[in-house]
Amino acid sequence: MEKHNRELPEDLSLLITGGAGFIGSNFIRYLLNNHSNVQITNLDKLTYAGNLENLSDIENDKRHSFIKGDISNAMLIDKLFNEKDFNVIVNFAAETHVDRSMLDTSPFIETNIKGTLALLEASREYNVKRFIQISTDEVYGSLDNEGKFSEESTLHPNNPYSASKASADLICLSYYKGYGVPLIITRSSNNYGPYQFPEKLIPLMIKNALEGRKLPVYGEGKNIRTWLYVLDNCRAIDMVMREGKVGEIYNIGSDYETENIEVVRLICKSLAEETHKNKEYYEALITFIDDPRGAAHDFRYALDYEKIKNTTGWKPTTDFTTGLKETIKWYINNREWINSVITGEYQEYYSKVYGKR
Ligand code: NAD
Ligand code: DAU
Repeated sequence: MEKHNRELPEDLSLLITGGAGFIGSNFIRYLLNNHSNVQITNLDKLTYAGNLENLSDIENDKRHSFIKGDISNAMLIDKLFNEKDFNVIVNFAAETHVDRSMLDTSPFIETNIKGTLALLEASREYNVKRFIQISTDEVYGSLDNEGKFSEESTLHPNNPYSASKASADLICLSYYKGYGVPLIITRSSNNYGPYQFPEKLIPLMIKNALEGRKLPVYGEGKNIRTWLYVLDNCRAIDMVMREGKVGEIYNIGSDYETENIEVVRLICKSLAEETHKNKEYYEALITFIDDPRGAAHDFRYALDYEKIKNTTGWKPTTDFTTGLKETIKWYINNREWINSVITGEYQEYYSKVYGKR
């Protein structure tokens, strides 16, 4: 048997952290919809980005229970392990927004590094069968127009968020090598889809456009991202958890690479098709602003995802035009969700970052 591999039982008892956030809530829903033999404890601090509204449709499902708490709280983690015999941890919990990491780095160190460490310590003590660390393509740094990052690429994080995620990845790998914690790291491209907090590019543009507000594009909008529909990522994480090799890293990418301005124009076009306004009305809202990330703004991310394809057969199945249309429809039909997740904190953050521009 492979080094440190511990067989996964059929019945999974999972500790999922950050499950009230964007990808975590989609992942929990994905598991509940696709597997009967899962028991999920969802540990989430409910920061500004975590919202129980993201889980309201599954609140009566007995296979899921929610605990409000911090992954850095070792005593709490210990108590949870004593109460429930978890065999899997999937760690989504993180501070995730690059712009915020440049305003205040400390929560990123506390949660992304120290919090991950607390979970690794518990995994070591209680012999979990899998620890899935949810990482990001941003740890590789920035690309020029050519090339893609593979799992072998060197880590070159350029902002406090990506530096904290890269640090966590290295600590994870050291716990695999040093203590045999059976872990797997996934690094994915930019996700989009339902339940994404409206501070990230796509939901922020949809929200602002629906409200007739400016669409703030950093610089000239020439930076390039690769877009992955969130449910494609959830399926990939599930497959890696069950079929991936411990000690390995898996990139989860897609083939949809585009400049930010092109994404914003596509949102305008799709919104025009879904509402009574025309494309020109939405495009007139586009406003180019000074780039708040300055030199720390990574130009391009792109992932080689052959490894996950070869290991599990996974590939993305939602093309960007379809996924974006679905996402836009979801935000149009869930205006109440938008209002319920944004708080006074959001307004304060918004005027700090965009107000003076
Ligand atoms: P998100 O910001 O929507 O959600 C993060 C969740 O973590 C929130 O529910 C928040 O309350 C919770 N949380 C924060 N600090 C916590 C703490 N100390 N203890 C417990 N819970 C805490 O983030 P997301 O976009 O869903 O990202 C989830 C994971 O995926 C992160 O690890 C992120 O680095 C990674 N990732 C995200 C993307 C993307 O495009 N969104 C891409 C690649 C990787
Ligand atoms: O690549 C994966 C990463 O994707 C994840 O690890 C992060 O958690 C996630 O936040 C995301 O990071 P980005 O910085 O790429 O995402 P964001 O949506 O914030 O920005 C995408 C691009 O759009 C980026 O080049 C900056 C630009 N942008 C963003 C905002 C919020 C704008 O032009 N205007 C905006 O208002």
